[in-house]
Amino acid sequence: MKKSVFITGLSREMGLGVALARNYLAQGNLVFGSLRNIDQPHIKELKEKWGDMFIPVAMDLTNLESVKAAAANVAKISKIDILIGNATAADAAGNKPIDDGCSTENMLNAYDVNAVGFIRMVQAFLTNFAEAATIASISSEAGSMGKCWRDDGLDYGMAKAALNFACVTLQRRLAPKYGYRVLAIHPGWVQTRPAPPKANLTPEESAEHIVKTIESPPEYEAIGNKGVFIQYDGAEYGF
Ligand SMILES: NC(=O)c1ccc[n+]([C@@H]2O[C@H](COP(=O)([O-])OP(=O)(O)OC[C@H]3O[C@@H](n4cnc5c(N)ncnc54)[C@H](OP(=O)(O)O)[C@@H]3O)[C@@H](O)[C@H]2O)c1
Repeated sequence: MKKSVFITGLSREMGLGVALARNYLAQGNLVFGSLRNIDQPHIKELKEKWGDMFIPVAMDLTNLESVKAAAANVAKISKIDILIGNATAADAAGNKPIDDGCSTENMLNAYDVNAVGFIRMVQAFLTNFAEAATIASISSEAGSMGKCWRDDGLDYGMAKAALNFACVTLQRRLAPKYGYRVLAIHPGWVQTRPAPPKANLTPEESAEHIVKTIESPPEYEAIGNKGVFIQYDGAEYGF
């Protein structure tokens, strides 16, 4: 059955958000794509190609009123089967090593967009989820305390670690009570920047895996948090 999917962070054409939207659209699903400024050429193109199946939504994850307004507008059109929090932000100076230029001045925005923004959005959508909905966040290995190897990247890593924590907590609340599945997904190393493409996955490849993983998520155990933080292909990642 065709699904209604809401995806955040579609502002960069080579970003993962657009690749996820294209994949879901190609399979005949209704896709809401959010970004702060919807007036962009690639959004226009998607709209021209997919018509009523693609609905751009202006939403700033750091602004509660903006998030509530977006959720209310979506609710007038459809219930949501799959919500994907893909948006991210990080401050370059906040990611420098602690003893080599790390600045805490603008660190709160990454936390606001990645972690608080995600729960702000989930809360605004709570009354509009379809039965057995999936709530997924695109997280990162950078937020894994057990596996991340970097000695810098505090701004981004802390924000993603907080996002992972949010997903586990939401899962514990929303799965038994409402039957919703909550996932934190590391998308792999993805060629989402125009720099030399050293990353091993194209956005399209990562998106294809993620779509399949959301369709058939791994089993989870509420105790032990297994099956919540996974990678693009559904394998357990580990906090
Ligand atoms: N590329 C990789 O190898 C890799 C690895 C691990 C994890 N990830 C994760 O994968 C996801 C996608 O990566 P990407 O490189 O494609 O992302 P991206 O394009 O850098 O960021 C996604 C979007 O976040 C949005 N955003 C920023 N601030 C926002 C705000 N206040 N409100 C709403 N949206 C906001 C931006 O849209 P607007 O500014 O227009 O709103 C942007 O389009 C991210 O969550 C990233 O952390 C990527």
